[in-house]
Formats: sequence, C-alpha cells, structure tokens
Amino acid sequence: MADTTATSSATGRLEGKVALITGGASGIGEATVKLFIKHGAKVCIADIHDDRGEQLCESFGGGKHAIFFHCDVSKEDDVSKAVDFTVETFGTLDILVNNAGITGHKVLDIREVDFREFKKVFEINVDGVFLGMKHAARVMIPRGKGSIISLASVASVIGGMGPHGYTGSKHAVVGLTKSVAAELGKHGIRVNCVSPYAIPTGLSMAHLPESERTEDAVKDFLAFVGSHANLKGINLGVGDVAEAVLFLASDEARYVSGLNLTVDGGFSVVNNELKPFEV
Ligand SMILES: NC(=O)c1ccc[n+]([C@@H]2O[C@H](COP(=O)([O-])OP(=O)(O)OC[C@H]3O[C@@H](n4cnc5c(N)ncnc54)[C@H](O)[C@@H]3O)[C@@H](O)[C@H]2O)c1
Repeated sequence: MADTTATSSATGRLEGKVALITGGASGIGEATVKLFIKHGAKVCIADIHDDRGEQLCESFGGGKHAIFFHCDVSKEDDVSKAVDFTVETFGTLDILVNNAGITGHKVLDIREVDFREFKKVFEINVDGVFLGMKHAARVMIPRGKGSIISLASVASVIGGMGPHGYTGSKHAVVGLTKSVAAELGKHGIRVNCVSPYAIPTGLSMAHLPESERTEDAVKDFLAFVGSHANLKGINLGVGDVAEAVLFLASDEARYVSGLNLTVDGGFSVVNNELKPFEV
C-alpha cells in the first residue's frame, strides 16, 4: 500500500506570521491553510467558494486563526481588497501563496480548442498570480521582507501533462516567479514556486462530473499516476505539497529565491520509457 501522508514533526515554524492563501478552500490550498495554522500562522483564505472557505475558517474556531475573503484572483480589485483585508485584520502580510488555479478541458486536437476557455485559464493561472505578486509587493516592500509562493506544476517543465492553456500558463508562472524575484530581492522579498506531480483533487478530477468522482475513480487515477511515476511506494498527497510550500514560506528558506521546487519524485527528470535500457 502506497504511503499518502506527509507530516513535519516540529511545529511553530511560522509563529507570528500572517499569510494570504488564494484557492485555500479546497485541495492543496486547504492542506496548506491547515499546515500553516498548525505552525502558528494566521491565515486569510481567499477563494470564490464561499461556503467551503467559511466552513474551513469555522473549523479553526472563528476569526482568531483564519478569516475568509471572497476573491476572484482574475479581478484586480478583488485581489487588492483581499490583501488589504488581511492587513487590516491581522496587522501585516508576511506570506502570499498564489494557489488558485484551473486546468481547462483537455482537447486532443488544437484546432478544436475553445479560445475563450484558453484565455480563462490564463486569466486565473497567470493574471491571478501576477495580481497577487503586485499587491503583496505593495505591502511587503515598505516592510522590507516577505515570501511569495505560487503553485505551478510539472506542466511548467514538460509538455503533454495537460491542456495547452494549462501548460502554457504554468510555464508563465515560472517566468513571473523569476522576473519578480529579480526585482524584489533588493527589498528582502523572496519569490518562489512549487511544481507538484498529479494528485486527485477537484482540479485534477475536473474531467469527471462530480457524481463520477467516486473512490473507485480516485483509485484508478492513483493507479494510472503511480504507474507513470518514477518514485515508487509513495502516492503524492496534498500534504506533501503543503510541506514544500511551508519550507519556502519559513525562515529555513531565507536564502532561497527564484526557485521552481518540483515535488514530483523525480518524474520530470527521468524518462521512464528508457528505464529498460539503463546501465
Ligand atoms: N492536483 C494536482 O494534480 C495539481 C498538480 C500540479 C499543480 N497543481 C496546482 O495546485 C493548485 C491548487 O490545485 P488543487 O489541485 O488543489 O485544485 P482544487 O480545485 O482542489 O482547488 C483550487 C481552489 O481554487 C479555487 N479557485 C478557482 N478559481 C478561482 C478564482 N478565480 N479565484 C479564487 N479562487 C479560485 C477553487 O474554488 C478551489 O478552492 C493549482 O494552481 C493547480 O494548478 C495541482
């Protein structure tokens, strides 16, 4: 049975820090919210999924540790207000996690790709990341510190892992990360991204109608992903990705900036098709 959990033993790695996490109501974002709070951070969850976001906040006992703000990351006014709300409520902003993202539908023939959907994917995955960086910088520059982490994907380093819009958008996240890291280093602000392999979440199961996202469908997904993975014996879980985000957010990564941290068990650097010929 593959191991699907990751847990860091020490706590308090984000004691006293304030974070804003977009798309924090579910999946990787939700796992990151939980891990950040476990490590002492106060978190603002910014999402379009109000019910889930508010319920998650309530599970931490109300507004002491977590607050919710309705925010569509593709809208500048929403992102700007989410940053301001975080600062007004918790006094500062130390960490931004640009996590919200969508895939769009996989269309096997480029001639059939719906251009409106292609642009929608860029609006959320690229515009959303840029807007988060812009408005976090507005608050972080005067304070002379901060950590900005964005969710890219293995689709940021190889092709064929998702729709064209998704792959293009995730490559753009890496470009933005490097460009903004280059500018903000002089202000003491670190800018990094994290690139996970595939995990069964709302995003990766979006090709199935909700009624078909059953335990069996998840098992099939894991079996398929596992058969193409390089590292065996472990199924990547949302907690593994949250741990990588935690590292980049914490002072342990105080000299790490401009990095695209792959959390893929070596998937993107090994061609498994060639394994039978290895010497
Ligand atoms: N699951 C995977 O296999 C995988 C692999 C690599 C990278 N990622 C990346 O990780 C991130 C999180 O993905 P996930 O798998 O947890 O997905 P998910 O669908 O479980 O969660 C995404 C969250 O983003 C929110 N969201 C969507 N559009 C939004 C918008 N316009 N404004 C604000 N919030 C919005 C959703 O409501 C949801 O809560 C994404 O950027 C995704 O591309 C996921």
